[in-house]
Amino acid sequence: MASIKDVARLAGVSLGTVSNVLNRPERVGAERRARVERAIEELGFVRSEPARQLRAGMSRTVAVVVLDVTNPFFGQIVEGAEEVAEEHDAQVVVCNSAGDPAREARHLDRLLQQQVAGILLSPVHEVASAAQLASRRSRPPVVFVDRVPAGPGFASVAVDDVRGGGLVGELLSDTGHERVAFAGGPTGLRQVVDRLHGLRSGFRGREPVHVVDVDELTIRAGATVLDELAALPATTRPTAVFCANDLLAIGVLNACVRRGVDVPGELSVVGYDDISFAETASVALTTVAQPARRLGTEAARLLLDGEQRSVVFSPELVVRASTRAGPGT
Ligand code: RIB
Repeated sequence: MASIKDVARLAGVSLGTVSNVLNRPERVGAERRARVERAIEELGFVRSEPARQLRAGMSRTVAVVVLDVTNPFFGQIVEGAEEVAEEHDAQVVVCNSAGDPAREARHLDRLLQQQVAGILLSPVHEVASAAQLASRRSRPPVVFVDRVPAGPGFASVAVDDVRGGGLVGELLSDTGHERVAFAGGPTGLRQVVDRLHGLRSGFRGREPVHVVDVDELTIRAGATVLDELAALPATTRPTAVFCANDLLAIGVLNACVRRGVDVPGELSVVGYDDISFAETASVALTTVAQPARRLGTEAARLLLDGEQRSVVFSPELVVRASTRAGPGT
């Protein structure tokens, strides 16, 4: 099925021009408008139902429900979604669940009453979220973001977090670590469980992974991770810690600097996301990059093009100063 991007490419115009021809044709010169209309005809481009609803003015709002509005990872997702919403002359509103399933459920209830054009949802627990949405007789299209949905009827965009954890396990083995820790947040988060699973499958050390549970995946919680590791006997203390996201890892780095713990000499630290602060942290952070902005653009495109499919991106390891150099480097 031809997309708005195919039409723009064939007509030799921008996405915005195609959107204007579709939504505000009076803003486009006759020659360019004719080129776009010929391309639409030639490709057999058909507007999706959500796009038609936008044109009909039924709703110009796409809701994005995120796990933690203070985490730059979700800010990048929202930026990507807004870029695509703009192409359809629509707007984005952001709702923060703060990792609380009850708060997420209340957001969804209110959004379902407001007739929004669609919902991009990064769920706390995907099974409960899917059940709540599926129980509605009528609902707008929903795309799960950063998660593969539980059950049919939903599109999704996600990253292979098991592979992401595996890349970290391989790096820590390749750089000589025999004892490693995983600092994870609410273990109910599917992406956290997958990263730990990947670490265990990629790490070749003899010792089992030492798991440090924290109440939240934030900078503040990083200090408690170092507290727990420092309290372990020196003979069994991990020499590396893989944190479930960059905010937690930056918290560990800050605590190491405050307490004079040498990174990576005494402790290698790895994060996940590659938010903008990772590279500029007190020690440049080794991490696993997620294409957060593309998660947002792709999710919004699936929503507004009315496509129901699951897109999975591959993570990428970004090695910086917070981990030991490998052999031969
Ligand atoms: O919300 C916690 C984490 O889950 C984020 O940092 C990001 O990694 C997401 O996948």
